[in-house]
Amino acid sequence: MTVIPAINSPPLQLLPLFLRLLLSGKTRDLSAETSVTEADPPLLVRALRGERTARAPFWFMRQAGRYLPEYRALRQQSPDFVRFCLNPPHAAEVTLQPLRRFGMDAAILFADILLIPHALDVDLVFKEGEGPVLSPVRDAAAVDRLEKAAPAVAGRLAAVYETVSRVRGALDPDKALIGFAGSPWTVATYMVEGGGGHDFRTVRRFALTEPDLFQRLVDVLVDTTIAYLDRQIQAGADAVQLFDTWASALPAAEFERWCVAPTAAIVTALRARHPHVPIIGFARGAGTGLVRYATATRIDAIGLDAGVAPAWAADQLPQSLCLQGNLDPLLIAIGGTAMDAAAHAILSAWRQRAFVFNLGHGITPDVPIANVDRLSAILHAWRREQTS
Ligand code: CP3
Repeated sequence: MTVIPAINSPPLQLLPLFLRLLLSGKTRDLSAETSVTEADPPLLVRALRGERTARAPFWFMRQAGRYLPEYRALRQQSPDFVRFCLNPPHAAEVTLQPLRRFGMDAAILFADILLIPHALDVDLVFKEGEGPVLSPVRDAAAVDRLEKAAPAVAGRLAAVYETVSRVRGALDPDKALIGFAGSPWTVATYMVEGGGGHDFRTVRRFALTEPDLFQRLVDVLVDTTIAYLDRQIQAGADAVQLFDTWASALPAAEFERWCVAPTAAIVTALRARHPHVPIIGFARGAGTGLVRYATATRIDAIGLDAGVAPAWAADQLPQSLCLQGNLDPLLIAIGGTAMDAAAHAILSAWRQRAFVFNLGHGITPDVPIANVDRLSAILHAWRREQTS
């Protein structure tokens, strides 16, 4: 197996692949900055690059979490969720836990999309049963402070990159490690609203009445997200996902400016630095806006929520794009034949395409482990040649 070490200086990046392969060492250095194996990349990376793999790789959003007793046991030792995320031994351990049980094809870094606001000096606490609470960003003085803090953000999140390199070092070469960040719009909703669970009137009013100021906030998030994901990739992430969980809150007229454009800027910058690392975009609830999102952002793969009919996605989204999704998360909580049938419907609808099996959104804490086992067994057994 040939391993390409991280090559970040611009002149080397321009070298053709065969020359970089020649320059690269033959052994896998687990502490190397990038551990993507070009000769034999993990199954997930091959699918994300558009290959119609014989078996569909799978992972589940929020696959590390409270439905796992081993997660709850470790989490009990750290009541402060932000500190838990920034504790590399603990974060690495919970990143790996679901793969030990279910053999997913990818681990997703254990962290949170709100670590960027935290590193921007926004006060952040996760309240039991309530979710995140942040000091709201609503005026020019607050945006000024963010702009001043921005250059230090990527450096402040060094603990996250240490988690990435620990996980990459512990993972089998055929398993992928997915890094991630929130998309600027979704992170901005939490920053302006001061938390989640609102109707988005405050952030939408901000964007509509003070678009220039809101643009400055989004620009801070674009720049810090690029630097943060760049560092995750240097530390060993094989692919990255951008979570735009609240794309659903944007009317069509604003979707282009606050979802598509910032995502495109992040993809362009990351691709220039790491052309071999696939980027997954997840614009949840974007509906027909997904067609524009898919083409204008130049993502490699598109995460689909359960509102998207699998057949629509197969027909309407560009053939070069890898599809990822999109089982209704309630069905994995319910299990049984309803879950099986819905999983097979996705596998069947996408069998002519490159795809990754996932849920339409995150696993919830009430999901029985037996159901995750059952779905994983279906996915391990499925082969593209099958018609169902
Ligand atoms: O997927 C994974 O397993 C990796 C880890 C991960 C977490 N958050 C851990 C987490 C990922 C990818 C996220 C992303 C995230 N965080 C999103 C986007 C994806 C999505 O689900 O829509 C959002 C919107 C957040 C913000 C966030 N973090 C909220 C609103 C909450 C509270 C809700 C809840 O479930 O309690 C969190 C907390 C959080 N992030 C938990 C986990 C495992 C639960 C914390 C706990 O253990 O108490």
